[in-house]
Amino acid sequence: MKNIDIVITLTSLEVTMKSVKQIFVDIVTGKTRHKHLRRISHNLRKLNPLTKDRHQMEVLSGPVGYSEEIGDYQLRFLKSLGLEPHHTLLDIGCGPLVGGIKFIDYLEKGNYYGVDTNDDAIATGLIHIIKHDLLKKNSVLILSHSFGNDELRELKFDFILASQILYHLDESLIDMLFRQLRKRMHANSRFYCDIIGYPNLVKDDSSWQGYRFYLHSLDFFKSISEKYGYILTNLGQIEKYGYPSMLGLKTNIMMEFRLKPGADVKPPAIDPRQAVE
Ligand SMILES: C[S@@+](CC[C@H](N)C(=O)[O-])C[C@H]1O[C@@H](n2cnc3c(N)ncnc32)[C@H](O)[C@@H]1O
Repeated sequence: MKNIDIVITLTSLEVTMKSVKQIFVDIVTGKTRHKHLRRISHNLRKLNPLTKDRHQMEVLSGPVGYSEEIGDYQLRFLKSLGLEPHHTLLDIGCGPLVGGIKFIDYLEKGNYYGVDTNDDAIATGLIHIIKHDLLKKNSVLILSHSFGNDELRELKFDFILASQILYHLDESLIDMLFRQLRKRMHANSRFYCDIIGYPNLVKDDSSWQGYRFYLHSLDFFKSISEKYGYILTNLGQIEKYGYPSMLGLKTNIMMEFRLKPGADVKPPAIDPRQAVE
């Protein structure tokens, strides 16, 4: 185990040293050094025992270097839309809990549920729950490729969030998500999710962790809303809710979905708070 640690450290150090050398080459040849400084800072975060867990979290949630700001933005955003500690929240594509840790801390016991397809992200999230002494909050993390359809049974939530994920899903997965969400929502539930806005830095071959970027249109979501009985509200670009302004995704569009009044919301709804007692 010790040997493995040393190998990892040396590999990171070599990359860092190479970057330092490259900086001097770039200064001499007059090239920009910004790219290398950023890379060095990432490698140092990996080496530093105080920051390496955070680095791992950021690799699994992206973009690296902004987890604190992005977590704060997610909590501030939902609070501005009325989230209070007694509310229940389902975090779809929760990743390693960049926002999740803030939500778990803020919400009352048993009110946070996270779903993700990536076991590394779920495991890292669990480590952060322990590190932040939040096990006592009885949060539920679910590894699922069907948005927790089987595990969540008839549970309904006050708030549902899918932050920085819908543009990695194709149209058929989004259709499945909206079909299932009807089961997760009561008459006052709201679902929030963001899509790529304009201008953006997305290119044809852009990808993140093997996921491509889909440029879904608002019209696509209008037709999904018609199909499944939602009211769609365009809340504008996420930068205005505190998303870091130096990141390209700041122009993402945030949308709100509510069930149309009178939509067929079938009782009995199970309250998530009782499900984890
Ligand atoms: C860019 S990360 C965002 C993580 C987190 N929501 C945040 O804002 O920090 C996208 C996350 O969505 C997850 N994901 C991708 N496809 C998914 C799916 N079909 N169901 C649930 N999660 C999914 C990925 O594993 C990843 O953790």
